Amino acid sequence: MKGFELISTGGALPGRLVTNDDLSRMVDTSDEWITTRTGIRQRHFCAEGETITDLAVKAARQALERSGLSAADIGCCVCGTLSSQYASPSTACLVQRDLGLAEDIPVLDVNAACSGFIYGVGVARGLLATRENDPRRYALVIGCEHLSRLMDMTDRSTCVLFGDGAGAAIFELTGDAEFAIDLGARGDMAITTPAGGPIGMDGRAVFRFAVDALPRSLGAVLAATGHTIDDLDWVVCHQANSRIIDHCVKKLQADPDKFYKNMDRHGNTSAASIPVALNELAEQGRLTPGMRIACIGFGGGLTWGGMVLKVKGSKA
Ligand code: COA
Repeated sequence: MKGFELISTGGALPGRLVTNDDLSRMVDTSDEWITTRTGIRQRHFCAEGETITDLAVKAARQALERSGLSAADIGCCVCGTLSSQYASPSTACLVQRDLGLAEDIPVLDVNAACSGFIYGVGVARGLLATRENDPRRYALVIGCEHLSRLMDMTDRSTCVLFGDGAGAAIFELTGDAEFAIDLGARGDMAITTPAGGPIGMDGRAVFRFAVDALPRSLGAVLAATGHTIDDLDWVVCHQANSRIIDHCVKKLQADPDKFYKNMDRHGNTSAASIPVALNELAEQGRLTPGMRIACIGFGGGLTWGGMVLKVKGSKA
């Protein structure tokens, strides 16, 4: 199996900060209800004139700059999103244009809802692996969402959960680095986003699905690499809801400090949530060379995706 190592990250959040108290002035809800049920305290929404393409480009440019690579080194560009600005061109193609990526590489969006970033990594790695004679062994993978555009701001059961944002990461296909990925789906209407919105959801059904899929996918990628949770430096889960993560930590009798959480500040940003979290860890100096991390996504589709990978370099 070909390894896929994390080289660098980038992120971008939109300008309009919306607190739970702000929402309680719009719908019949409260900071107390939202915080205790979800762990979410605030989220960022795109401001007037702000586009998800701008945020995706910003996050991708930052990841590229931090990688020390040039645009010409990138061998494919994949963007996970369910809320791109245009159905076509894809967000990935607009990133390609703005960053000046090569023309003879695959560039596409992937829609696997909240598992979109993990699916994007799987697609990017597969694309690079099939281009064996191409010396460009680096993939740019982005997760970005403009969910506030697809929300019914009068539906308190969904409008309190989601936020906007973008994250990006660069990976290198390497011969021997450790890597495992687990992707799956179960076609189901428990969360729906009609083309023009709004998002609809059976919250309880999604909760039941998530607390089953998360530990199952983590178990699958750990089994594939022969490791246990103790061998991981971080578990970066999709940031849908604090209680979903707590439930899994308890079920797995794991160390809660290994499970990164930032939904208090961003809400659920779907495909962006894992790369935004990775980027925060990196910016805080807490994602360092040689670390072994797991990332687990789950959500609409229903879909799930998990991976275990290394941060490039050796441990200090
Ligand atoms: N503020 C105040 N009350 C609210 C509310 C809100 N924002 N949203 C729903 N309620 C009310 C309901 O109307 C219901 O009232 P009722 O008992 O008078 O009918 C009550 O709260 C309980 O609703 P319910 O939907 O059963 O709550 P819950 O305990 O299941 O919590 C979620 C709702 C959405 C927080 C929870 O189901 C959940 O986290 N699901 C997973 C969602 C998710 O993460 N989705 C994305 C996955 S990618």
